[in-house]
Amino acid sequence: MTESHQPKARDQWGSRIGIILAVAGSAVGLGNFLRFPVRAAAGGGGAFMVPYLIALLLLGIPLAWVEWTIGRYGGQHAHGSGPGVYHRLTGGRPWAKYLGVITIFIPLIINFYYIFIEGWTLAFSIFSLNGTWDKAIAAGEMDKFLNGFIGAESNAYFDGPWIAITIFLLVFVLNYYVLFRGIQKGIEKLAKIGMPILLICGIVLVVRVLTLGTPNPAQPDWNVGNALGFMWNADWSRLSDARVWIEAAGQIFFTLSVGMGAIMAYASYLKKKDDVVLSSLTACSANSFAEVILGGSISLVAAAIFFGAAGASQIATQGSFSLGFITMPYVFAQMGAGGIMGFLWFFLLFIAGITSSVSLIQPLLTFLKDELDWSHRKSMAVIGAINLLFTGFVVFTIGYGTLDEMDFWAGSVLPVVSGLIMIVLFSYFMGIDRGFKEMHKGAELHLPRFYKPILKYVTPAYLLFLLGFWAIQDWWPTATMQNVTDPKQFLIIGVTRSIMLAFIVFLIYLIYRADRRHKFPKLMRGEE
Ligand code: ALA
Repeated sequence: MTESHQPKARDQWGSRIGIILAVAGSAVGLGNFLRFPVRAAAGGGGAFMVPYLIALLLLGIPLAWVEWTIGRYGGQHAHGSGPGVYHRLTGGRPWAKYLGVITIFIPLIINFYYIFIEGWTLAFSIFSLNGTWDKAIAAGEMDKFLNGFIGAESNAYFDGPWIAITIFLLVFVLNYYVLFRGIQKGIEKLAKIGMPILLICGIVLVVRVLTLGTPNPAQPDWNVGNALGFMWNADWSRLSDARVWIEAAGQIFFTLSVGMGAIMAYASYLKKKDDVVLSSLTACSANSFAEVILGGSISLVAAAIFFGAAGASQIATQGSFSLGFITMPYVFAQMGAGGIMGFLWFFLLFIAGITSSVSLIQPLLTFLKDELDWSHRKSMAVIGAINLLFTGFVVFTIGYGTLDEMDFWAGSVLPVVSGLIMIVLFSYFMGIDRGFKEMHKGAELHLPRFYKPILKYVTPAYLLFLLGFWAIQDWWPTATMQNVTDPKQFLIIGVTRSIMLAFIVFLIYLIYRADRRHKFPKLMRGEE
């Protein structure tokens, strides 16, 4: 050590199963149950699984290994977030810490909207039990019901978003309570309780959906077999559309929570010789099971059973929220034990959501504690205040597409950029041989050597291709908001972008402050 930056005692995970469940909890989220089925159906059903599995094997799993490895490595030097970890990885290159800003920015922005939607899931689980939406269902007005609930319009069902805000506040307090309790007593405990509950809810729902038979007399030809066919029959022609490949890769990033700094922060609380290779693979496998088997068998399959191919196709084009919060209540209304099933569905979403949202708050929390030496309380108070303020902004501007805008940048484009930075620093600055060795410290599974060229060439090239293609096809129309015609919406999206930019500048300033406090000292050769 050249400067005053002495490693200090940091939290630690209590057990191996604890960290695996926590990372699986971060991964298994709303993305598995809401985003995935819609993307898969729109991307060619079974055919979508080709780019999806390729992205899983060449991007998701390798990047998860890298993120676990560099997180554990950073933790040994009292760094659990991008700035400090990248500083060490690159042997103290002065620019590296600033690149780390992306890993604290992404989860913070995602959390602004994610935690609000988590509130919807909890509210809907209660609505399902007490039949709050019965009138809306009878009138075929669930879209109005949802819009009224989130405050996008005032109508006969809701007079403003006040219930949504109250439940959001409850969910907010729960999230911060878990984080307040720390890694072992908070996050680990939540994961150990939540993940089995989620699994049970998921299995009950899958069994219910797969035993529905032919429940709708108006659709006598539609049974479970047809519905599974609707979801999974392959439309190979979709694979010639490069966008499908990008969406599959984006889904892998979002669902595994890779490139978001969350895994890095969690892994930084591992011990030096705790396995990362097998643990990471186990967490990824748990996520894939939850996504493909559970997520792929519930919502859209149930919708197809009741509404037939045409109905389900139309539902799929209306997006994830529409499927989860508008269509599903209709589906449960027609199903035996629908109230209970609806409760299980929305409660499953809530558990999936909260185990993910705590992991999205953790990177900034870790950064403030590690690099600015703020206390746990102070860090939580500041992040909480920011969270409240900007979720408030999302709540009151949701009708203008702020949520989609944040999701587009922080949930789709930037994780890919972040993944590219991460793998390049790992493979070329830390060096693939050293990185591979670091990865295998305490490993309970040894990777074949061909993973080295994959990490060094294939994964970065694949990411570059995806970003290049996106830049050519979408960059200009997106940057200039060509699809926005309403001037007010134009303004609000502009404000949203300015807020995001201001956050990047602010976080860069905090990194600069940490640097002034000698948190990123010059490293001697061999000290990395
Ligand atoms: N990985 C989390 C999800 O799928 C963010 O929702």
